[in-house]
Amino acid sequence: MHYATAERREHLKHGLTHDPFKALVVPRPIGWITTIGPDGVVNLAPYSFFNAVSDVPPMVMFASSGRKDSLRNIEATGDFTCSIASQDLVDAMNLSSAAVTPDVSEYALAGLAMAPSLVVAPPRVASSPAALECRLWKMVELPGFEGKPGTTVVFGHVVAIFVDERVVKDGLVDTAAMRPLARMGYMDYAVVTPETTFTLNRPRVSDDRRSATVTTGSWDGVYR
Ligand SMILES: Cc1cc2nc3c(=O)[nH]c(=O)nc-3n(C[C@H](O)[C@H](O)[C@H](O)COP(=O)(O)O)c2cc1C
Repeated sequence: MHYATAERREHLKHGLTHDPFKALVVPRPIGWITTIGPDGVVNLAPYSFFNAVSDVPPMVMFASSGRKDSLRNIEATGDFTCSIASQDLVDAMNLSSAAVTPDVSEYALAGLAMAPSLVVAPPRVASSPAALECRLWKMVELPGFEGKPGTTVVFGHVVAIFVDERVVKDGLVDTAAMRPLARMGYMDYAVVTPETTFTLNRPRVSDDRRSATVTTGSWDGVYR
């Protein structure tokens, strides 16, 4: 299979049961976004068009396919938090994606408790092992097919970070211990676990920069 996608009519010609695009760009981290609506209702929803896009300063993005409550709330308030959706919270994460009316808080729907943030107004998921507090930098409207509205990308500065001490080990975040969920294609998910995590040292380039070697074994603690 090999097909063009620039036009809508081409994009639909994959010949498969469903569009394969999201099954190919995997695994996608899940940004579990909390915002506050104009009426004070605390909104929660998962977004897998989500990622870190800068570390100095720390910045994240998520993309809303159409205009949803999270997007509208951030337009109004500028603040959001992003909690890590861990394996033990999978059912709550899934329930929080239900398209309930804006007056219903997905925290109540999913039986989740909130914890206060340090800098921004929206809280975080109390039982989540880590969360990012974010402030809107910019929204970018992506082009849709045939001039129709597409997706809106929300970029935010990370202005505070919460990490549960239980997932800090020897001065490092034990990411695998958080067992973060990731989105695959269709209705599939994956989990990052200690069993599927491995360490790989970066190549060291020779003095003449014409060859490189990789040392095996554990990380020496130097970012290269
Ligand atoms: C794991 C998961 C990932 C999702 N990722 C996205 C996404 O990246 N963009 C999007 O627009 N909707 C995504 N959705 C659907 C939204 O969560 C859903 O439309 C939700 O009702 C939006 O809530 P809101 O209106 O409160 O913002 C995802 C759903 C799930 C379960």
